[in-house]
Amino acid sequence: MATAPPTSSELRSALEQAADWCAAYLDRVGDLPVLAQVEPGEIAAALPEHAPREGEPLADILADVDRILIPGITHWNHPGFMAYFGISGSPPGILGETVAAALNVNAMLWRTSPAATELEGRVLRWIAELIGLPTGWFGEITDTASASTMYALAAAREAAGLDIRTRGMAGRADLPPLRMYTSDQAHSSVEKACIALGLGQEGLTKIPSDAEFRMRADLLAEAVAGDVAAGVRPLAVVATVGTTSTTSIDPVPAIADVCAEHGMWLHVDAAYGGSAAVVSEMRGVMDGCARADSVVVNPHKWLFTPVDCSLLYTARPGDLKAAFSLVPAYLTTPEDGGVVNLMDYGLSLGRRFRALKLWMVVRAYGADGLAALISGHIELARRLAAAIEAEPAWELLAPVPFSTVCFRFHPPGVDDEAELRRLNEAVIGHVNADGRAFVSHTDLGGRYAVRVAIGNLATAAEHVDTAWDLMREAAAG
Ligand SMILES: Cc1ncc(COP(=O)(O)O)c(C=O)c1O
Repeated sequence: MATAPPTSSELRSALEQAADWCAAYLDRVGDLPVLAQVEPGEIAAALPEHAPREGEPLADILADVDRILIPGITHWNHPGFMAYFGISGSPPGILGETVAAALNVNAMLWRTSPAATELEGRVLRWIAELIGLPTGWFGEITDTASASTMYALAAAREAAGLDIRTRGMAGRADLPPLRMYTSDQAHSSVEKACIALGLGQEGLTKIPSDAEFRMRADLLAEAVAGDVAAGVRPLAVVATVGTTSTTSIDPVPAIADVCAEHGMWLHVDAAYGGSAAVVSEMRGVMDGCARADSVVVNPHKWLFTPVDCSLLYTARPGDLKAAFSLVPAYLTTPEDGGVVNLMDYGLSLGRRFRALKLWMVVRAYGADGLAALISGHIELARRLAAAIEAEPAWELLAPVPFSTVCFRFHPPGVDDEAELRRLNEAVIGHVNADGRAFVSHTDLGGRYAVRVAIGNLATAAEHVDTAWDLMREAAAG
């Protein structure tokens, strides 16, 4: 006889167990090794080859999270997680994800959950206000900055009036070569968007950055002018506030001037850096962004909201809608024309109720609480940068505008880049093998850098100090 499917009372007891589990996990995560300690294939080997024929009790399934999966988890919620960008599954965020799953609404249309659509609009407006973006802009939540940027650039392509939506791009003699621009420090999602949108990798020009890794607006102006003279049609520029490697900030006002001169769409990738603008002293990082056509900010990076949650703002929702809206007969509603149907503003029809967790996060911390957390991270990064600068055998490799520090061990007399790389790989290897911290690396114009990115809710001075002590220990051999 088949096992009875889970009931609401079984759910209640499993959720009580899960609630205890989540709270205990947050308490103990700092004692677990931050980086998973398994070999490739080890977790898969511990899992049954085939799906169970009969249903299993929720309690047994939950028990297997600890037994089978936890050893293969890299703990992004660990206070020692300082690789890539540190992120947080905060208590209100966990609550929001849980309730969203229970509601399981799909806000593709306003009527398929008015509260989801209207909450999304209102929370995005709150955040626009907190980070200094115009509050009248349209905003929507997508899964990732990669999707947000692709959507923005699709809108830019449509706004060019080339009727690509209808006629496509292939075999069209009337279509000039199309071009987008970004810096050589931009995230790979910009290039991926160009691949997806049919411009190809050659349709993206990477403008060199200056010594502090910021796009050279003068070289952008030159490149665009040269392309125009050669018959190329410039469509869009993607500037970055907080680049992935060093968190440098492109000169958005100067870039906006170039865009205005040539009628190009300006998209700002503030996926990481945008959150910092909730701190009033950091507001300046968004200078010029109000002149953009679209901006992306990722609360799942540095606004304590669990993955996934990316905010796409645009001053030109009509162009975004023109790129994506396609309404089959079965999705028309009596309210059409009078409400926002979020399915009109992107590729996916269905959408998770992501606004719920973001709303809970913003309410639970408040604007001041969020600002205090972010200021704390910036302070920790500055402290680490100062410690690095105080050590003659260590070298800071980039300015520290946010909470990410790029540096390397550079003992006097060793100037061969391959040797420096080997030394610093060993430093990172030592830290990451220890289990108390996880840091990553990047390449800065041929120089291999250790990269420490502070962003987890629970990261405190002691965690940064542990990583730094481990590095110096490795360097001392
Ligand atoms: C500046 C920047 N933009 C975009 C992305 C892509 O973010 P997502 O993972 O949300 O697509 C990243 C990821 O780290 C990033 O650093």
